[in-house]
Amino acid sequence: MAERLFVLTGAGVSAESGLPTFRGSGGLWNGYRVDQVATPEAWEDDPELVWRFYSMRRRDALAAQPNAAHFALASMERALGERFYLCTQNVDDLHERAGSDRVRHMHGSLFASRCVVCNRPFADLAFYETALPHCGKCDALIRPHIVWFGEMPLYLDEIYRELELATRLLVVGTSGSVYPAAGFVKTARQSGVRTVYVGPEEPLNVSAFDEVMLGTATEILPRLV
Ligand code: OAD
Repeated sequence: MAERLFVLTGAGVSAESGLPTFRGSGGLWNGYRVDQVATPEAWEDDPELVWRFYSMRRRDALAAQPNAAHFALASMERALGERFYLCTQNVDDLHERAGSDRVRHMHGSLFASRCVVCNRPFADLAFYETALPHCGKCDALIRPHIVWFGEMPLYLDEIYRELELATRLLVVGTSGSVYPAAGFVKTARQSGVRTVYVGPEEPLNVSAFDEVMLGTATEILPRLV
């Protein structure tokens, strides 16, 4: 049976591009409380603060460049074609800017927004730091197209189908603390998939991996190519 590679990435793959992770030292969740900027309730309470937070993240991501880890994954995709699947928890576009096509952002995208009523995502690079954006069609509020805590991640049916088809799972730069992504390795292992973790420290779900390669994404991924 031909090898099929499923790759899951987290904030660690973009850390060496200068984008902060969430929980490491200097992580985003040190500066902001999740319940202030990343829940539907936070949005109800203070949409201005939420848009200042995501405008800041848009600026940072626009200024960042893909690193050797992003490029390594793009060349794996070129080598494997449709036998390669990349699921990312990240909302930046560094995978695409490195040349990856087959990318699924299960937690949404920084560069898309949607009307809270019409609910159709559209590409959006604007910063909303002074005035809140409203829908041109129905005048309702426009929100970031980001999956917040308590909301359903995107593409889950397709993701589980791909997990079932995979023969190898490579997980890069995620702490294993947020579900359902943190549970993918167990699901994969149960169907006999070989599971490998890449990152400078052991994730919380380390026991579910067949192999753990300790080091940074830019050190290890180019070697795997
Ligand atoms: P975390 O900040 O929880 O974890 C980042 C991981 O990256 C840690 O395990 C680090 O060891 C690792 N890391 C740091 N530098 C690295 C490097 N140079 N190379 C490789 N790995 C490195 O971020 P995530 O696990 O991605 O969700 O967080 C998961 C979700 O929680 C996010 O998608 C976001 C967040 O709240 C939502 O907002 C819904």
